[in-house]
Amino acid sequence: MHIAVVGSGYVGLVAGACFADLGHQVILVDNDQVKLAALKAGDVPIHEKFLPELLKRHRERNLTFSDNLNQAVRASKAIFIAVGTPPTEQGEADLSYVESVARSVSGAINGYKVVVEKSTVPVYTSDWVRKIILRNAAAPDSFDVASNPEFLREGTAVTDFLYPDRIVVGADSERCATVLREIYAPMTDGSYYQRKDAIPAPDRAQIPPPLIVTSAKSAELIKHASNAFLAMKISFINAVASICESVGANVQQVCQGIGTDSRIGPRFLNPGIGYGGSCFPKDLMAFRAVARECGYEFRLLDEVMRINEDQRQRFLRKVRTALWTLRGKRLGVLGLAFKGGTDDIRESPAILLVQSLLQEGCQIAAYDPAATARAREVLGPSTEFVSDPYEAARDSDALLILTEWEEFAALDLDRIFKQLKYPIVIDGRNLYDPEAMAARGFTYYSVGRPAGTPAVPAAASTPPARKLKKS
Ligand code: UGA
Repeated sequence: MHIAVVGSGYVGLVAGACFADLGHQVILVDNDQVKLAALKAGDVPIHEKFLPELLKRHRERNLTFSDNLNQAVRASKAIFIAVGTPPTEQGEADLSYVESVARSVSGAINGYKVVVEKSTVPVYTSDWVRKIILRNAAAPDSFDVASNPEFLREGTAVTDFLYPDRIVVGADSERCATVLREIYAPMTDGSYYQRKDAIPAPDRAQIPPPLIVTSAKSAELIKHASNAFLAMKISFINAVASICESVGANVQQVCQGIGTDSRIGPRFLNPGIGYGGSCFPKDLMAFRAVARECGYEFRLLDEVMRINEDQRQRFLRKVRTALWTLRGKRLGVLGLAFKGGTDDIRESPAILLVQSLLQEGCQIAAYDPAATARAREVLGPSTEFVSDPYEAARDSDALLILTEWEEFAALDLDRIFKQLKYPIVIDGRNLYDPEAMAARGFTYYSVGRPAGTPAVPAAASTPPARKLKKS
């Protein structure tokens, strides 16, 4: 099928590349000339597994790039809107880019089109998109508006797209649903997965994935409700982790105990320093604003956000407990991205923590496998950026783990021990076992678990006064 994807941001680029891999002819439209030139030249603007491979496979074949929306609409049966919906100061989603695309689409309709919302938008947006297209003189039966939300996570976006738990199609007519069913047919009939060159399946892949057809409004709500629920799960376990810390219980054991209940499930129950990223914080605010507009005060979401903020403050208190005063202390920081596997630092709790620590007078030596360039733009010269975890640890008063990159869970701990001025590790992502860390001579703090203290403690809750004898 001929498909136009408008907006070459995270969702648009991944969706465009994946539609091309399913065998469709895709035109990716953007008005940012610099971005377009880079894409045409073979650049991959985001750090995303399998994306370079897909772009290379389809660039200028199944996947072309253009700034001409009118032409792209004329050439396509389905037009996916994947432009940004940034938050306004009041926390609502700013839909002006969506509206502007809808207006342009209207003037280019030359046969039946399905206009699909791919960006995360509040419920009722499909109604508005329809109204805008009609207002601009398109015939009512010449198009339909659908909602086809995306559930991809940064870092695993390509596999999330091609191996989803479900595909949600919000369509208010059978004609429209048929077009979307056809687009996803290589996935739902399983033929894509039989191809030798298919992107490899992740663990737990649901093959073929179910396709759920709902009304457009329900699909819009499914997206906001899914993100809100996942954020709620994280805040819930972070709150439980705080209680664990007070009573000396172990949140990991608690998670195992509750996560094995199939009604609850073990995923998204990892406590840490709070959720970040370009989606959860923004979507929760937008969902709360939508609810308020509909006359419902969604106070549960306020609490989810409050716990998330609090989680960072708790971590800061942990650093103070471990080091007493902070002014002049040198801290090695592992991880700046909002989570592992990405170079995205938007709303990253790691960045917010580093900024707080800098304000308190700490010196920071930070390492991130992918996010350094972006972090440098935000943190500037106040932070020293180093090229590996061991350099971050060198002569530091403590090592902080702030992002769950896989390589941080596989450090050469003896080397880290030798590099640190004091063998103190404060792990905001629970990557290590407290007892094993203590056995190696570290004083180890994590989230929701008892601290690990070596037999000869490294002055755990008092300022580290002397250097431990290292093995
Ligand atoms: C999230 C959703 O997971 C996707 O389903 C959704 O499509 C996407 O938002 C979106 O709306 O576009 P993403 O923001 O890429 O995806 O990241 P997640 O993997 O969900 O992580 C979000 C944050 O929660 C990260 O800071 C992560 O470290 C944190 N997190 C996640 C935890 O603290 N604990 C967990 O158990 C899981």
